[in-house]
Amino acid sequence: MTAALSADPHSYANFSDVRVRHAELDLTVDFDQKRLQGFVELTLDGAAPELILDTRDLDLGKVYAIVDGDYRLTRATLAQRDPIFGQKLSIALPEGADRVRIHYATRPEASGLQWLSPELTADKRQPFLFSQSQAIHARSWVPIQDTPAVRFTYGARIRTPKGLLARMSAENDPLDAADGDYRFLMRQPIPSYLLAIAVGDIKFAPLGERSGIYAEPSVLDAAAYEFADTERMIEIAEKLYGPYRWGRYDLLVLPPSFPFGGMENPRLTFLTPTVIAGDRSLVSLIAHELAHSWSGNLVTNATWDHFWLNEGFTTYVENRIIEAAFDAERADMERELSETELVAGMPEIATSDQHLRLDLRGRDPDDGLTDIAYTKGMLLLRFLETRFGRERFDPVLRAWFDENAFGTVKTDDFLVFVEQKLLNAYPGIATHTEVLAFVDQPALPEHTPRTTAARFAAVDRARNGWLRGGDPAAIDSSQWTTQEWLRFIEGLPGDIAIEQLAVLDARFKFQSSGNSEIAFAWYAKAIDRNYRDAFPAIERFLTRVGRRKFVLPLFTDLFAKDAEFARRVYAKARPGYHPITRASVDAVVRP
Ligand code: BES
Ligand code: ZN
Repeated sequence: MTAALSADPHSYANFSDVRVRHAELDLTVDFDQKRLQGFVELTLDGAAPELILDTRDLDLGKVYAIVDGDYRLTRATLAQRDPIFGQKLSIALPEGADRVRIHYATRPEASGLQWLSPELTADKRQPFLFSQSQAIHARSWVPIQDTPAVRFTYGARIRTPKGLLARMSAENDPLDAADGDYRFLMRQPIPSYLLAIAVGDIKFAPLGERSGIYAEPSVLDAAAYEFADTERMIEIAEKLYGPYRWGRYDLLVLPPSFPFGGMENPRLTFLTPTVIAGDRSLVSLIAHELAHSWSGNLVTNATWDHFWLNEGFTTYVENRIIEAAFDAERADMERELSETELVAGMPEIATSDQHLRLDLRGRDPDDGLTDIAYTKGMLLLRFLETRFGRERFDPVLRAWFDENAFGTVKTDDFLVFVEQKLLNAYPGIATHTEVLAFVDQPALPEHTPRTTAARFAAVDRARNGWLRGGDPAAIDSSQWTTQEWLRFIEGLPGDIAIEQLAVLDARFKFQSSGNSEIAFAWYAKAIDRNYRDAFPAIERFLTRVGRRKFVLPLFTDLFAKDAEFARRVYAKARPGYHPITRASVDAVVRP
């Protein structure tokens, strides 16, 4: 039997008795062996006969308990490995111990790290390493209380081969020489899922006073152009929700195998290169990750059952930033695209997972990573915004961030807060039942506010006119933005003829679009209709990009249409994919 879990269903840690307050890392990055090797020293609050930590696939060395500065070897026991939760590590704490030091090494297959050979980077000259800790992968590279309910500060010394630069989600010197010896300090307490490291041939370019961009040399200029709006977005967010409390805000563009669009590592957002479209049209991703500096990093879900408090709030704030940075039309279009996607995808989500408040006991927390947390969560806040009006709602949202700053929250905290600050403060506008309908009921309540973006009506007219036999040359798309193109493609009928797809391709060159979102939307249609002409381009896309949001649906559809083709392409693409992406696609493309 596997060991019992704690107050957080995804952690073994006994954090109700003893808590990690600070972590001090000392690690050497070994690209030949694909290992991090060294130690972590944990400072503890509270006393207990033992400290229980989360680990996965770590090789343990000596473990010390520290009593009055005296390092004493102590007993450390690893329990049996659970495929989802990893291995519970129990460390005996002698009377008076307030620190422990754990020597360890990671394994090459650590689920939270990807070790890339030079061919898998943009510049193909140096190896690259990056972490992805959310949701429960920090434990595969640091033995830690791997629960969002515990916050700690951290310091680190990282040694790398000379010439490579290391960055962490912490304070560092943007002008560091790449001498292979780096120090980091995170003064604000963070949960373990925000621990992050990246090492590679990385260069820096400033974007503003307190923001800048890191990327491989060949990507740096394009990235600096693409994300030039960053500083402005920080100012907008501050005006809405209070001071940015993390000092600098930098961006790091990762190699194309990065499994997500972005990851809100504090002070240093990690980004997929697939948002570099050349026209700044996909920067809502920056708005999103920046928004996490309030929703998520400052005010954190206590367990993954309350994930919507991170992502739904962030999606709402993201859209407010886009509205202020650009205009309401763009914000409306982006929101309507998300709403349409949520509604279309709803049947594939189990009814019990359509609630905002989830029950992920015994399951991988990644199961909660659906549009429900993001879009339905955003829509609950939109519901409150439209009912109470921004003049009432905006200060309440700001107060939520202020009053819970550096704290952890559950759905019930939100319900109590809304009751006090909105429902009871302004009676007769909305009811508790209306709010609860989002939280504990499946699908979307009838009173959900829905968006109809004015510019999408014109796109629909153009598409439908052409479908009724019009001339494709008559589609006036000269002023269309990425969002309108996505609407155009996603609205194509399910039974559209291959010849019609070919006509569109000839005119609009979707197949070879350099915009990853447009290409992805087109490839999904192409696979669905078995439009073989696009398959070579799809194969190139799948072998070049490892972002899970793109490759998982494409492989799922491909496997259903042509399992042989899917297997062949996956065999080629898989070595370049991140462990998280591999695990997902492995479950779909079966041998
Ligand atoms: N924090 C998430 C990414 C994440 C969530 C990683 C859960 C692991 C587990 C990040 O902020 C995010 O939401 N990324 C999105 C982009 C966004 C614009 C919807 C993504 O990667 O697609
Ligand atoms: Zn997010």
